[in-house]
Amino acid sequence: MNMSDFKELLARIYEDKTPKTADLAKALAISGKEELHDLFAFADRVRRNFCGDGILLRGIVEFSNFCTKQCFYCGLNKANLKIKRYRMDKDEILDSVKFLAEKNIKTVVLQSGDDPGVDISWLKDIIRKIKSEFDIAVTLSIGERSFEDYQALREAGADRYLLKIETSNESLYDAIHENMSFKRRLRCLDYLRKLKFQVGSGNIIGLPSQTLEMIAQDIIFFKERELDMIGIGPFIPHNDSRFSGQKKGEVVLTLKAIALTRIVTKYAHIPATTALGSLDKDYRLEGLECGANVLMPNFTPQPLRKLYEIYPGKRCVDEPVGECNFCMANMVNSLNRFIDYSRGDSLLTDKEEKNV
Ligand code: 5AD
Ligand code: FES
Repeated sequence: MNMSDFKELLARIYEDKTPKTADLAKALAISGKEELHDLFAFADRVRRNFCGDGILLRGIVEFSNFCTKQCFYCGLNKANLKIKRYRMDKDEILDSVKFLAEKNIKTVVLQSGDDPGVDISWLKDIIRKIKSEFDIAVTLSIGERSFEDYQALREAGADRYLLKIETSNESLYDAIHENMSFKRRLRCLDYLRKLKFQVGSGNIIGLPSQTLEMIAQDIIFFKERELDMIGIGPFIPHNDSRFSGQKKGEVVLTLKAIALTRIVTKYAHIPATTALGSLDKDYRLEGLECGANVLMPNFTPQPLRKLYEIYPGKRCVDEPVGECNFCMANMVNSLNRFIDYSRGDSLLTDKEEKNV
């Protein structure tokens, strides 16, 4: 594609209320240096205009690695008998939250596997305590639950919920998740919306048999669902999963997907994911330069942290708690941006058009 055609393509993707799969797939296929530079610079401008230069922090506490699901890509899958399972108790969780709140972080993400051992009234109690003791937003990421469970958690004060669709392609989704269904996943996302959570979702780039068209459709899915937060990370094969030995997702394709998601969704909060930081080197910096505006420091206490092995080589498993903060401050300084220590609520409520 010549450069003027490419610039036209990007402008069309930016302006289109409903971007076309073919346009997005074409942009995902580029490989020329100049084109990549243009795409990333465009996304960076969109990020600056719609989200500003501040980088938001979400402190993550991975409080249980039990899981009853069988996702083909994930190291926590229930068939993996090699990992030692843990569930933190109330005090351990509250201590971690206290620690991150003292570091001035205003969002805690409480994440677990799909763990029915996580009792809803137990979790409600934790959420209530967090909300009464700290001035902090609570994001949950605990998988698929009933409407009533989500409602109870919302009423207890949870503000946000992350539930990744992983792929918006129904047949691919159903093929790589045993005893799970795409339709049920969508229903959960609908429940969360209805309950007025700020909703996050996202996908994995480079899943076996995923095509560029499917990734293009993921981006359209993010736009149509008006997601408040979108996490995009490369596939990293885990030896104790069904996808052991498969090819890993490409960094550049992941960065292109992040950039196009920024250009299409404009206001969404997009993290430079831990997966992006867990490849041959740390590519989170590159993620922040092509559309991402969020980092997720890990506050899971040691020695549990290394047991939350969704994929191998996960970043920061040996760092002491709190170390991630320094590391992230360095990253952000090198970009001439700054850490934004506010809660970082959804920007989608204020949708004034801005010019790029
Ligand atoms: N590679 C990359 N990302 C993965 N996830 C799970 N397993 C893998 C993997 N092998 C992502 C999923 C999940 C999130 C917690 O981690 O998107 O929702
Ligand atoms: Fe954890 Fe760098 S982000 S040490």
